[in-house]
Amino acid sequence: ARPLGCARPTQSRTSSSLPPSVPMAPKVLMVAEKPSIALSIASALSGGRMSTRKGSTDVHEFDGMFQGSQAFFRVTSVIGHVFSVDFPPAYQNWEGTDPMDLFNAPVLRSESNPKAHIHRHLAQEARGCTYLVLWLDCDREGENICFEVINCTGIPENEVGRRIFRARFSSVTEKDISNAMDNLVLPNKDEALAVDARQEIDLKVGVAFTRFQTRYFQGKYGNLDSRVISYGPCQTPTLGFCVQRYQQINTFKPEKFWSLRTYIIKDGDEIQLEWDRKKLFDFDVTVMFQKMVPSDGALKITDISVKEECKARPPGLNTVNLLKVASSALGIGPQTAMHMAERLYIQGYISYPRTESTAYPASFDFRSVLSTLAHNPLWSNNVRTLMDAGFVKPRQGHDVGDHPPITPMRLAPEEALETDAWRLYQYICQHFIGTVSHDCIYTRTAVEFASGGEIFRCVGHRVTSKGFTSIMPWLAVGENNLPTFKKGDTINIHKVDIYEVRLMSFSQPHNT
Ligand SMILES: *[C@@H]1O[C@H](CO)[C@@H](O)[C@H](O)[C@H]1NC(C)=O
Repeated sequence: ARPLGCARPTQSRTSSSLPPSVPMAPKVLMVAEKPSIALSIASALSGGRMSTRKGSTDVHEFDGMFQGSQAFFRVTSVIGHVFSVDFPPAYQNWEGTDPMDLFNAPVLRSESNPKAHIHRHLAQEARGCTYLVLWLDCDREGENICFEVINCTGIPENEVGRRIFRARFSSVTEKDISNAMDNLVLPNKDEALAVDARQEIDLKVGVAFTRFQTRYFQGKYGNLDSRVISYGPCQTPTLGFCVQRYQQINTFKPEKFWSLRTYIIKDGDEIQLEWDRKKLFDFDVTVMFQKMVPSDGALKITDISVKEECKARPPGLNTVNLLKVASSALGIGPQTAMHMAERLYIQGYISYPRTESTAYPASFDFRSVLSTLAHNPLWSNNVRTLMDAGFVKPRQGHDVGDHPPITPMRLAPEEALETDAWRLYQYICQHFIGTVSHDCIYTRTAVEFASGGEIFRCVGHRVTSKGFTSIMPWLAVGENNLPTFKKGDTINIHKVDIYEVRLMSFSQPHNT
């Protein structure tokens, strides 16, 4: 539907030189969060037929249709936040300001990077524009930057819904971009205000505590070699976790324990049985049990249970889980991994990588993602099988209402990416294919033996259907096939060993 107020664009200054009878196509200013995203948006919407000129950030211009009529589009970008907050000069002085007073101090907003002149740039580019479409990243920060941009353009905020619109997109692909353009919504003021509040709290808590603790500790430790002992509401608690772990490791006292390992020979193979008591912290008592076990001369098979077990496919991938895998399995630190993920998003290869959600929206088109992935020989067999034999929906996850889970959007050629970025992308693809694969099904057989009042067990696993573990082989269920046993049978004990282990445990950390 055409928005209210779009009947006649206001005549811009440049139009005064034209005969009044020529109606001007309305101008639409569109602003993205980064220059590269502005370029992708302009390329997608213009079909590549655009002109580009330099400014504080590049400006791409083209003709097109807006709300059903001919329009002139101008696409540019900010570079992250335009403004940041700080205290007025009167509160900058450490000597003259009590840290407590900072909590009630006024807060000033000023340009984060005055040399980039983003404010002036947006004000200039907005001149003569009837409409403003906000293409900031779709998260809270992006929502906040929306209102920074609105402020810079000088278009009054009460024009939201009439002249100001928000594009909602989760990936920088042509499909998502044109879909967002066809379904413009409104920016969310509440989310933007939440960020304002967070910024003010970070500033006040950070500065007040930093000044206070710098002073406090400087008097106490003469050799403190830091001029400022800074406090951050996130960094300081995180440091607390690191210190706690460090203390746990330092105060670790190894402790010995012992266990019995009983061996049998079946069909020519030696099989080690696990002791039901698992471990004892007393060597002499363990020796006593070692002597008791062969008292019956043989082990009796007291129970055999066969169960079908299932290892569930993963739910959708969110940011925290991506960073965990990057760190523990790929050896890529969280900060580097996040930069790589952002680049993959900007290049249109993956959906927005900042998401807490592990659940997909009900309408999500899994088949189209699968058919995109089908062309890479690394996993094309898995994908074809899923498309032919039927794939499943991902396991139920949490929908936090932000973005869909991190999903491959476009096939990246390996040679287009740096080695680690490719490994990260490959993981995202494998994970996605895993989410729509079947669960892994295996049979667990547990055989229970008894002798001298002690119970032992051996467990076998046999995979009947690999499911998602064929695309995520590192999660495969280890197979070990047991020979056939029969309940009530007896079997000779081959030997009973004692083995010694040093317990890996941490003593309680001290409260220091
Ligand atoms: C922009 O924000 C400033 C400070 O919040 C305010 O004083 C000014 O009126 C705003 N400008 C517009 C055009 O909304």
